[in-house]
Amino acid sequence: LTRRKLTMSKVTEIKHPLILHKLAYIRSKDTGSKYFRELVEEVSMLMAYEVTRDLETEEVEVETPICKTKCQMLAGKKIAIVPILRAGLGMVDGILNLIPAAKVGHIGLYRDEETLQPVEYFCKLPQDIAERDIIVVDPMLATGGSAADAISLLKKRAKKIRLMCLISSPEGVKLVQEKHPDVDIYLASIDEKLNEKGYIVPGLGDAGDRLFGTK
Ligand code: PRP
Ligand code: URA
Repeated sequence: LTRRKLTMSKVTEIKHPLILHKLAYIRSKDTGSKYFRELVEEVSMLMAYEVTRDLETEEVEVETPICKTKCQMLAGKKIAIVPILRAGLGMVDGILNLIPAAKVGHIGLYRDEETLQPVEYFCKLPQDIAERDIIVVDPMLATGGSAADAISLLKKRAKKIRLMCLISSPEGVKLVQEKHPDVDIYLASIDEKLNEKGYIVPGLGDAGDRLFGTK
């Protein structure tokens, strides 16, 4: 009898009251692009607090006006934020507010509307990506195809990857967990299901179009 240790990624649904409140406005069809963009940025900043919870710190000595003391600072681990274009762009500034030293890579993928399969059209990553912890961001995790492909692409060059999305379907979470059991997933909400067009229900509609006013 051989025993195999099955490791499964951690899935964290961040149910903070401020996030829940802002998410209600984000979901509403009556919220226009300007306010939608601001809210996506704010929720991303709040989520970044949780996503970075396990970053390592190290002891440093600081001199206060009163005396010397020991404090903790981030232990030199470098971060890269990688938005999946287009909609992931809306989450970048919120995270940069908290981690201004992070570098930003871009992966361009769009879902073919017929097949729902992701098609890659752009990839530009920081030169030192292999030395960085990566946070992949995309507001929507629907079938999970786009996120799973983006992560596969990054794995050729990087080690520690986290995925951060606003809203997912149960199917999207399952696919990413199956394909990338080593990637922890952070979400503001796991919604009910996907509809026949691959949209998340209740979701928020098309994130890219709502952010950039393209429909
Ligand atoms: C949306 C969204 C994700 C993808 C999710 O992007 O931002 O990237 O769909 O779907 P999936 O989990 O089924 O792959 P879209 O392809 O519409 O491109 P856009 O951001 O350029 O509008
Ligand atoms: N992409 C979106 O923008 N919204 C969905 O609900 C699914 C995929």
